[in-house]
Amino acid sequence: METEILQPTPEAIAKAATLILAGEIIAFPTETVYGLGAQIFNTNAIKKIFDVKGRPSDNPLIAHISILSQADTIAKKLPQVFSILTDAFFPGPLTLVVEKKETVPDIASANLPTIGIRMPNHPVAWKLIDSVGYPLVAPSANISGKPSPTTASHVANDLHGRIPLILDGGACSVGIESTVLDISTSTPTILRPGHITKEQLENILQQPVLFSDSLSSSQIPKAPGMKYRHYAPNASVMTIDTLDQFQKLSETTDTNSAMMLTNIHLPPTHEFSVVLPLNETTLFASFRRADQENIKTIIVFIDEETKKNIGLMNRIEKATK
Ligand code: TXA
Ligand code: MG
Repeated sequence: METEILQPTPEAIAKAATLILAGEIIAFPTETVYGLGAQIFNTNAIKKIFDVKGRPSDNPLIAHISILSQADTIAKKLPQVFSILTDAFFPGPLTLVVEKKETVPDIASANLPTIGIRMPNHPVAWKLIDSVGYPLVAPSANISGKPSPTTASHVANDLHGRIPLILDGGACSVGIESTVLDISTSTPTILRPGHITKEQLENILQQPVLFSDSLSSSQIPKAPGMKYRHYAPNASVMTIDTLDQFQKLSETTDTNSAMMLTNIHLPPTHEFSVVLPLNETTLFASFRRADQENIKTIIVFIDEETKKNIGLMNRIEKATK
């Protein structure tokens, strides 16, 4: 199959919508990462998503909406906190897990009684969903296990020849996937940390928000996707947080095939083949660059600011496993 990469002109978006309505799957930009979208009620198209990504069938998909009324077409009942959260954070990098309607295919939710709903903050995504007229289920548009794509060429590297179209909306501004918050139970629980923090959610809700136990233990994760190795470049990823550790590692590592991700100046980093800043927006792009440049070791220096960023720390930890 030929894969077209198109600028998101009205014609290209119309073409993407036509393909989706014909049961194809296409890649589109969001503010977090690129998504691989199918019409939510088209079981055969959703099956293609799992096939193309090599995604385990027990990992549910997120439904992307462009207007709030679309949530009513897929959710059984929306708890009161839903509107409080959507007022504050939609459109934006937050996915809300709620009870799903029976009409939502089981393949979309991996047989769970719930569905994650998110309104991406990206005009191309809105126009595409509007043109299709239905919510789009979309996982990140990468091969399962690889870092999520934050540019159209990342998507092409993984899925070239396997999907008909990639809408090129440039680089994603957030760079890590949405915060996944379960509001189907009495206490809102973060299943996947992201750009929207626990504190922000608690401020708006005026009640405690939990982190899922499974984020810090070996229990079965409630967000099935969190149990898989993720975001992982081919290189081995190591974290350090002291200058001593840095000194030792730079003596024992082959710096010619090593990448250093750091926000503080560490002499003598000039010996490393690549030295890049560490942040949410560029982490996955740095991992992918490491793969392209045959980097064997990625050393990540965890400074105090980074430690406080739970979403970023989660992606780094997943890559070190
Ligand atoms: O930012 C994002 O969320 C991106 C863009 C494309 O919107 N999408 C994304 O989708 O990251 P995906 O499929 O790569 O990750 C979805 C995560 C998985 O960990 C999955 O297990 C969890 O959300 N999830 C989805 N629906 C769920 C549900 N009903 N219950 C629990 N976890 C759910
Ligand atoms: Mg993913």
